[in-house]
Amino acid sequence: MLHNNLSINEKNHLALAGVDTVELAHRYGTPLFLMDEERIRYNARVYINAMKKYMGEGSKPLFASKSCCFKRIYSIIAEEGMSTDLVSPGELYIAKEAGFPLENAYFHGNNKTDEDICYAMDSGVGHFIADNREELDAISRFAGERGITQKVILRLSPGIDPHTQAKISTGKVDSKFGTAIETGQAMELVKYVLTLANVELEGFHCHIGSQIFEYSSFSDAADIMLRFIRDVRDECGYVVKVLNLGGGFGVRYVESDPHIDYEANIKGLGAEIDKLCAELEMERPIILMEPGRSIVADSGVTLYTVGSVKTITGYKSYVSIDGGMTDNPRYALYESDYSILLANRAGDAPDLTATIAGRCCESGDLIQEDVALPTPVRGDTLAVLVTGAYNYSMASNYNRIPRPPVVMVKDGGSYVAVKRETYEDLCRNDM
Ligand code: LLP
Repeated sequence: MLHNNLSINEKNHLALAGVDTVELAHRYGTPLFLMDEERIRYNARVYINAMKKYMGEGSKPLFASKSCCFKRIYSIIAEEGMSTDLVSPGELYIAKEAGFPLENAYFHGNNKTDEDICYAMDSGVGHFIADNREELDAISRFAGERGITQKVILRLSPGIDPHTQAKISTGKVDSKFGTAIETGQAMELVKYVLTLANVELEGFHCHIGSQIFEYSSFSDAADIMLRFIRDVRDECGYVVKVLNLGGGFGVRYVESDPHIDYEANIKGLGAEIDKLCAELEMERPIILMEPGRSIVADSGVTLYTVGSVKTITGYKSYVSIDGGMTDNPRYALYESDYSILLANRAGDAPDLTATIAGRCCESGDLIQEDVALPTPVRGDTLAVLVTGAYNYSMASNYNRIPRPPVVMVKDGGSYVAVKRETYEDLCRNDM
């Protein structure tokens, strides 16, 4: 199987962490998001331990909340001692409600409003990842009003295209995020920050993109960023302590994706960073990374019930399910690859190639095309694998479809982490 928390049991059913998914579908209903709690903890530990070991004391991963955000996730990562990045006051609110220690939170966003900034400061968020001059002015002003010094990391664009999909690549110079090094604007902004009261410049941030399978793209980014840190030292006489390299490594969604060993890659990247620092005659800064999908994606499986199976003579076959782009918009948005099987006949040989279609009134509402399956019948349970990241967090209520619950699988049992939305929830705010 794609990941070692997936197996086929004696009933020919798909199991997640040893728990029969078909039984879970019957117990909780479909569509259903399942997550393997131990897998989330395991992935968090791999990053935490490897970054400490190979990048030095203080170096650590921040969980990218955007990949999966609900209260229980924050308690799990807090229990593992992991810090987090937040990109909106909504994520901040949920972290706060979960009792997450906000001094370990890093607040992102390319357009934080005055209200967002005050809310984060008043909630005790430890670090701001500041995007632009206007935001820095506001941080300085509001920190001054509160008599505090706000720690700030500046988001820069190193001008790297890691050859992943254009829509999920964010480190190029032409980007809505951050300030470009290449144009000289980053250096100007640093000089400006150093004049601001109530702001402490801790370091620099970049994010080059997602689904990166080898550390060379990160070391290319580190090269540019470390040179910039040296230039700032030489030009401004100021040494920053932190380098944040942004989002984490890739995830295996389908058999053709490479296997990736996170620890080995972190080790390789750590060695490259040490080499660069020696070459540039500088001390190694504290290294931060912001993995999202590589912490949660392979913990997740989504279950659906098959409704209709239609073959258009001379064209193709459609299998319709009771969810769709409202719980997983990633195929509609990015044509993302997924592995799909029938959970209740998990080991059966495929004899049909079909498009998996959702129930929205929209022809682009597809989960995947050209999927090989044993011909499904109404009532079968269809499983989409590796859905722990950017599925629940990107789910919507389009067509007024309630969002599915999130059920955690743990120690052979299961519990509800997020309840299924009800029809009442859908018009809760309607007057
Ligand atoms: N840090 C920053 C600044 C980011 O922009 C992102 C992802 C991450 C961390 C986490 O990256 P990860 O380790 O999860 O790859 N919704 C899309 C991808 C867009 C996310 C962009 N930022 C998806 O479904 O793939």
